[in-house]
Amino acid sequence: MSVRIAPSILSADFARLGDDIAMCVEAGADWIHVDVMDGCFVPNLTYGAKVIETVRRLTTLPVDVHLMVVEPEKYFESFAKSGADILTIHQETAPHLHRQVGRIRELGCKAGVTINPATPVATLTDVASDVDLILIMSVNPGFGGQAFIPRTLDKLRQSRTLLDAAGNRGALVEVDGGISRATITSCWRAGADTFVAGNAIFAARDPRAEIAALRTLCEEQV
Ligand code: DX5
Ligand code: ZN
Repeated sequence: MSVRIAPSILSADFARLGDDIAMCVEAGADWIHVDVMDGCFVPNLTYGAKVIETVRRLTTLPVDVHLMVVEPEKYFESFAKSGADILTIHQETAPHLHRQVGRIRELGCKAGVTINPATPVATLTDVASDVDLILIMSVNPGFGGQAFIPRTLDKLRQSRTLLDAAGNRGALVEVDGGISRATITSCWRAGADTFVAGNAIFAARDPRAEIAALRTLCEEQV
């Protein structure tokens, strides 16, 4: 299993987004994580297609878009056109999860599904063979810089078991929220392979070194 580090630009400096993304690329980041929030599903507002397009122009790394919005299907087409590689939607916002995962793939993107801390992994059982990625939220979505919720570790283990049982060996298990040097190793041991980190990277004195350190902490466990 290889480690993927996905810096979240939610904690970047938008006055110098180009520099921050170039720094991530130089430091060996694997994906760029873009958090879309609508002020309705979550109590915060961020950005949409325009920023996805900007990130797309700034890097060839995969653009990992996390949709924290109601009626996410409204945005699939424009986000795909803007250059998103991965579209991840919340189970809590998607009563027709199976259809929506199919639609994301039709548009040529990888399809991810995600759940809040209070939502059981079992709600993803019937789409486990259809997804490219399960994202486990390790904080309540909406803000960067929150504390990691320890129960997440069980949910990472359950996600890996669910994907294995569905025969979906290629699917990834991503974790988002409160990932730092203190929490990443236990997530990796619990079965996560893709790590979103915002505050830990962008608030660090040396963000480059932080990206490298997060990766090394996992790789040392192999
Ligand atoms: C939270 C977002 C995260 C956020 C993580 O709702 O989905 O991607 O940027 O930030 P940190 O790593 O600071 O917890
Ligand atoms: Zn996110």
